[in-house]
Amino acid sequence: MSDSEGMDGLRVTACERCADLVDSRSRIVNGVGPDDADVVFVGEGPGANEDEQGEPFVGRSGDVLDDALDTHGLRRRDVRITNCVRCRPPENRDPSETELANCRPYLERELELVDPEVVVALGKVPAQHLLERSVAVTTEAGTVETVAVGDARLDVLVCVHPAATLYDRSQEDTFASAIEKVATIVGAEGGQSSLGDF
Ligand code: URA
Repeated sequence: MSDSEGMDGLRVTACERCADLVDSRSRIVNGVGPDDADVVFVGEGPGANEDEQGEPFVGRSGDVLDDALDTHGLRRRDVRITNCVRCRPPENRDPSETELANCRPYLERELELVDPEVVVALGKVPAQHLLERSVAVTTEAGTVETVAVGDARLDVLVCVHPAATLYDRSQEDTFASAIEKVATIVGAEGGQSSLGDF
């Protein structure tokens, strides 16, 4: 059996690899967005809202992400949004190394198939998982590193997690600058442009 067993295209339809997560989840939360998106945002794992609605980043973090996309001329429906693990960890704890490893083939397959111009690691867990090294997210935010992900070589941009801006206002500019860089990489129209007024 292949490592991406249980996948139908980009969707994981069944998986029981992580006993704790099988117990804590209501459903598997797959990535959303076009299968040929230029940008893929990768978060840590579903929270309560995502577990309930079956879509990544639909709670307060999702609002922060959506606002930043909007400000920088990117639309949620044009980007792909996914997570390192697809099932909600109990009490929103960080996914364990084993859980990250169990879910990695699904993420690799998704990233290989979408083959985006840039992968945005939202926070420490995805940054360290994708770059396979220790990452100081705040100081490295906005930097891009090319890494092997499965059979693909992809540019990964480090970004603070949107939730970080909710409990530490000083992270707002860091987050906004990183999203602005994403918009520049994919050539999105700047939200500040006034050309549309004419
Ligand atoms: N935080 C994440 O990392 N992922 C989500 O889907 C929601 C919140």
